Amino acid sequence: DDLERIAKISATIRVIPDFPKPGIMFQDITTLLLDPVAFKDTIDLFVERYKHMNISVVAGVEARGFIFGPPIALAIGAKFVPIRKPKKLPGEVISEEYSLEYGTDKMEMHVGAVQPGDRALVVDDLIATGGTLCAAMKLLERVEAHVVECACVIELAELKGRDRLGEKPLFVLVSST
Ligand code: PRP
Repeated sequence: DDLERIAKISATIRVIPDFPKPGIMFQDITTLLLDPVAFKDTIDLFVERYKHMNISVVAGVEARGFIFGPPIALAIGAKFVPIRKPKKLPGEVISEEYSLEYGTDKMEMHVGAVQPGDRALVVDDLIATGGTLCAAMKLLERVEAHVVECACVIELAELKGRDRLGEKPLFVLVSST
């Protein structure tokens, strides 16, 4: 059942202490990708949830949203749109700044990739403070898409990123403390 699949997925995620900085427990999904059953179950759980929600666009957040987003998009018949770090996209972009622990960063999206009225799912591997997903949602809302939900493999629940998303639903497979 789902709980069994989720337990197996959770067990494949490797935790690396003090990466990239002292005190950070890095949740490494590359070990999930090494397990074809866990990887497929991860995608299938999202696909089962989203296949009947009329999603027209899956927006994946660089970098690891590019791993999980496209197979979900293909399976549910939605287009895939990459949301990237600055200066990576060659066409005209809109950008959204967001705050980090120290300073700010930016996310960009191609103009014209998403249409008004598109129904969007935002995908990333992990939510920590929620800043990244908020910026991605703002980009989609600025072009008048409707963000149906955000989906992540892992939530760092202690950081309360979920609260930062406000009313927007967040669906995660694994909640870690
Ligand atoms: C990680 C993760 C999310 C983001 C979550 O990406 O993959 O995209 O941080 O953090 P937040 O909820 O506090 O915004 P990272 O910054 O490591 O970038 P990368 O995926 O390009 O390596």
